[in-house]
Amino acid sequence: MLKELITKEQIKERVKGLSLEINAFFGGKSYIVIGVLKGVLFFMADLLKNLENYETYDFIQAKSYIGKDTTGNVKILKEPNIDIYGKDVLVIEDILDTGITANAIKDYLNKKGAKNIYFCTFLDKPSRRIKPITPHFCGYTIDNLFVVGYGLDFNEQFRSREAIYVLETDVTSF
Ligand code: IMP
Ligand code: MG
Repeated sequence: MLKELITKEQIKERVKGLSLEINAFFGGKSYIVIGVLKGVLFFMADLLKNLENYETYDFIQAKSYIGKDTTGNVKILKEPNIDIYGKDVLVIEDILDTGITANAIKDYLNKKGAKNIYFCTFLDKPSRRIKPITPHFCGYTIDNLFVVGYGLDFNEQFRSREAIYVLETDVTSF
């Protein structure tokens, strides 16, 4: 069962606000944008419409396998094709949960020689964190809830919903 948490009107307002924060932060400086597939698609497109001065964008895709040790083992499934060396990079995420994926992406970008790495996430669930990461820009901080919509899925379902919903059925593995 789905229960609406953030309406599409609220999303629109907040994303506009985030773009203003990011524009103010970078000022006239150039940077590149890396979106984390696949859940980021709608958020990233909406955000980019109002971002200024970014040079280009690309995508990365990672899959995290959480083992018994809870440190997580992350595989990069798709690498960006653009040169990252010496660049300021803004990573855009749909949601930060355990932080395992974001930390792996940070390590990957550091290895590629990124000058500075900044994270912008639409949603953050800090209470679930296993590996520390604090986003520089965050749409909403939410409780320990499993949410879908606006690109976010449960087993590939519900991505196309325009609002954010709490999935109220028992979600034991995600
Ligand atoms: P992390 O490595 O645990 O931070 O995992 C982040 C990824 O887990 C996200 O990019 C999502 O794909 C997925 N995820 C975590 N929480 C949720 C949720 O509430 N809804 C949908 N996907 C989620
Ligand atoms: Mg997912």
